[in-house]
Amino acid sequence: MLKQLYPRCDVVHPLEGTYLALNLHQQARQGDVFIYANYIVSLDGRIALFDEVVGEYAVPKSIANERDWRLYQELAGQADVMLTSARYFRQLAQNKAQDLLPVGGGTKYTDIKLWRESQGLKAQPDVMVLSNSLDIPLSALEKVQDRQVMVLTSSKDQSNIETLEKAGVLVKQTDHVTGAFVRQSLVDLKYRSAYMIAGPQVHATLINDKAVDELFLTTHFSLLGGTKFSGLVDMDLANVQSLKLQSSYLDTQGNQMFHRFSYVESF
Ligand SMILES: NC(=O)c1ccc[n+]([C@@H]2O[C@H](COP(=O)([O-])OP(=O)(O)OC[C@H]3O[C@@H](n4cnc5c(N)ncnc54)[C@H](OP(=O)(O)O)[C@@H]3O)[C@@H](O)[C@H]2O)c1
Repeated sequence: MLKQLYPRCDVVHPLEGTYLALNLHQQARQGDVFIYANYIVSLDGRIALFDEVVGEYAVPKSIANERDWRLYQELAGQADVMLTSARYFRQLAQNKAQDLLPVGGGTKYTDIKLWRESQGLKAQPDVMVLSNSLDIPLSALEKVQDRQVMVLTSSKDQSNIETLEKAGVLVKQTDHVTGAFVRQSLVDLKYRSAYMIAGPQVHATLINDKAVDELFLTTHFSLLGGTKFSGLVDMDLANVQSLKLQSSYLDTQGNQMFHRFSYVESF
């Protein structure tokens, strides 16, 4: 069970359904798209640590957990499209990614699949990838053949672009992939809800152009330490980004809190 701490502090309810009830696919204003991000973070602000064995940054196993994953899936369930990074696809190709992008398989998440169906959403969200390098392995794309994949890039490498297009990918090229370009691309493609699951660079890209509406943040009560780590934002921001708390839940069973924030005007 979860205990709500804000805005009310006298409500207890099951984990399942907490985020699915939000109807994020219906929040966008007319002619716009609603973009939301989600992270799990340790108390000392780490979303990823460098894994010396794998040789890459990864979400630490000590904080990744099934209860948080259930809410991750509920957020994915409400998305028309998922926004991710090319790095994710590179890890997917090597079977090192945290999970496949689709709303999860298995009986545990059947209710989310049925809910999507009842809302008239496609079986799986489409996928939009940010990449400057266009280093996106075709073997990873095979794993998401059941939906439209789009790539936003600043690369002018025509041969790479053609290879991706032949694989069915829609490539949109621009001088710099900014948050405004991401938002406009989503609007042009008529998406109404976009779930951002990439790391700190994509997050900063969106924040700098006010191109992200809400942040779902799970704070796990652990101190991870380490000197090679990623935080929520690892790049310079044009301004300090202020957030407004929308809701907060204490999950004593999972030793964590679930926060929902909206991004508000900077100071
Ligand atoms: N704890 C959590 O909840 C959580 C959530 C998400 C990610 N993570 C972790 O955070 C780490 C970093 O994730 P990530 O690599 O997805 O993060 P990222 O830093 O957001 O993205 C990195 C890659 O995305 C592309 N990219 C980013 N901004 C771009 C822009 N403006 N224009 C064009 N391309 C852009 C680039 O791809 P190219 O190199 O192809 O140019 C870049 O290498 C990973 O270990 C991941 O597991 C943790």
